[in-house]
Amino acid sequence: MLILGGTSEAAALDQHLAEQAPEIRAIISLAGHTVDPRPSNLPVRVGGFGGIEGLRQYLREEGVTAVVDATHPFAAIMPFNAEHACKAENVPLLAIRREPWQPQPGDRWEEVPDLEEAARALGPKPRHVFLTIGRLELPVFADAPHHHYLVRAIEPIGNRLPVPHVKVIQQRGPFHVDDEEALLRSEGIEVVVSKNSGGDGTAAKLVAARRLGLPVIMVERPPKPDVETVAHVDQVLPWLVAQGLFVTERGV
Ligand SMILES: NC(=O)c1ccc[n+]([C@@H]2O[C@H](COP(=O)([O-])OP(=O)(O)OC[C@H]3O[C@@H](n4cnc5c(N)ncnc54)[C@H](OP(=O)(O)O)[C@@H]3O)[C@@H](O)[C@H]2O)c1
Repeated sequence: MLILGGTSEAAALDQHLAEQAPEIRAIISLAGHTVDPRPSNLPVRVGGFGGIEGLRQYLREEGVTAVVDATHPFAAIMPFNAEHACKAENVPLLAIRREPWQPQPGDRWEEVPDLEEAARALGPKPRHVFLTIGRLELPVFADAPHHHYLVRAIEPIGNRLPVPHVKVIQQRGPFHVDDEEALLRSEGIEVVVSKNSGGDGTAAKLVAARRLGLPVIMVERPPKPDVETVAHVDQVLPWLVAQGLFVTERGV
């Protein structure tokens, strides 16, 4: 089984398989953006496959019989490559997609289709912005250099955000509401920018913003292919059973 990873779901599936089905031969694939990825039980391969054709070749050469797409909700290319390659090679594909966050009473969200719109939505007046979008797409905000940015990212951001006022916090979630509220207060944050990634690990900033009555510019997800999808890793083994690829001792 090939697991397309880079997410907390892939890490959870790694743990789930180690506990429930250690006999399954699986490998986790990472794009290679994170220099220091989480440790895993399963073997890991790193780097792109070389588009759809490269992935097809990988599936054939490695004798892959099932693919689980556990990429991030904002991965816009890999899910389509997986769909096309699996269809062409006749390999079953399952996607794990967490639910998006939904606005709650008291939230002041402005939903925008992409990061360019998010940068524009900050407006002409300088504001103190908490920017939690990862580091790779930070250059988009160089077009709005008049704001004060507090950036949180897992890895150093290098010179991706060449603006006069930027402060970086290097941290990996999960984060907690009280800490997030204290951070927003102490940094004088006026607006939060977030991708609608969903999940529990990074939702605390939204609760903290609600508590403080702060606006959130929420970037909507990119489109995904129409493939068989589940929301939780514990649905993967039943799917493998349904595909006839796995039989447990209990026969289910
Ligand atoms: N975008 C985000 O906000 C975000 C946040 C957290 C984690 N991640 C994770 O970071 C990785 C890259 O994200 P992205 O937004 O750059 O994805 P993407 O736009 O969908 O993918 C770009 C290219 O990166 C390679 N790639 C992506 N995921 C891969 C994987 N799991 N294994 C091997 N190669 C992979 C593929 O190269 P080839 O065409 O050469 O195969 C793909 O064409 C993904 O694994 C994703 O789960 C992304």
